[in-house]
Amino acid sequence: MIGKRNLVFLGAPGAGKGTLAAMLAEQAALPHISTGDIFRAEMKQGTELGRQAQQYVTSGGLVPDQLVAAMVGSRLAQPDCASGFILDGFPRTLPQADLLEQTLTGIGRRLDRVVLFEVTRELLLQRLTARIVCRACGATFNRMFSPPRKPGCCDQCGGELYQRPDDSLATAEERLRVFAEQTAPLVPYYEQRGLLARIDAGADKADSFQALLQVLA
Ligand code: AP5
Repeated sequence: MIGKRNLVFLGAPGAGKGTLAAMLAEQAALPHISTGDIFRAEMKQGTELGRQAQQYVTSGGLVPDQLVAAMVGSRLAQPDCASGFILDGFPRTLPQADLLEQTLTGIGRRLDRVVLFEVTRELLLQRLTARIVCRACGATFNRMFSPPRKPGCCDQCGGELYQRPDDSLATAEERLRVFAEQTAPLVPYYEQRGLLARIDAGADKADSFQALLQVLA
């Protein structure tokens, strides 16, 4: 059982945040809040939020801070977050980190741990460009590291597997550039607050998950 439950997963695109967040969410009964997943769902449904986010998501840029922070703020106020949460992909800028701190203070909460997923650039690009996702249930596979039993077909629900448009090599490289420029400054920010723990997320899923559990003990 983990001791730390109010969590942020920080790491470059393809570091495995979503994969390990899904594993931890199941094991520890925590809500997995992925801002990327929320934007993709809103875009698919054609909502106003999805329309506003579209241009940023497809180009590999970041959605404006206030828009993301408001969305996360209302999600954290939901009853299922009362005993903890996994924030996957938020915050991604220093202003977002400040807005998160204000939101949590406002509801009498604070972060317990920020986990930094460390992976080499070469492996990030291999993972991103080989990732395939189920259109129906969102399960994630990888042509190189964890292929589905039947090509193009989800093991869990039989849905169609597709490549995210932002996983093309050019857009993946742009996302890594944006990470280095806008998100990497969060590492010293959380280090100074004594919240940061690093894990080797370049290992296979089982070993990376064990490393995660150790820093959340
Ligand atoms: P988002 O969806 O959050 O993308 P990301 O941060 O770029 O993260 P990814 O989903 O690409 O990677 P991941 O670390 O979750 O890796 P995964 O587990 O899938 O955001 C998309 C866009 O939304 C952004 O570009 C931006 O426009 C917008 N956005 C989102 N949040 C925002 C915010 N806060 N502010 C502003 N804009 C925001 O793994 C990758 C692959 O590797 C998979 O195929 C997986 O199977 C495989 N894999 C993972 N771990 C392992 C392992 N240990 N061993 C082998 N294979 C592995």
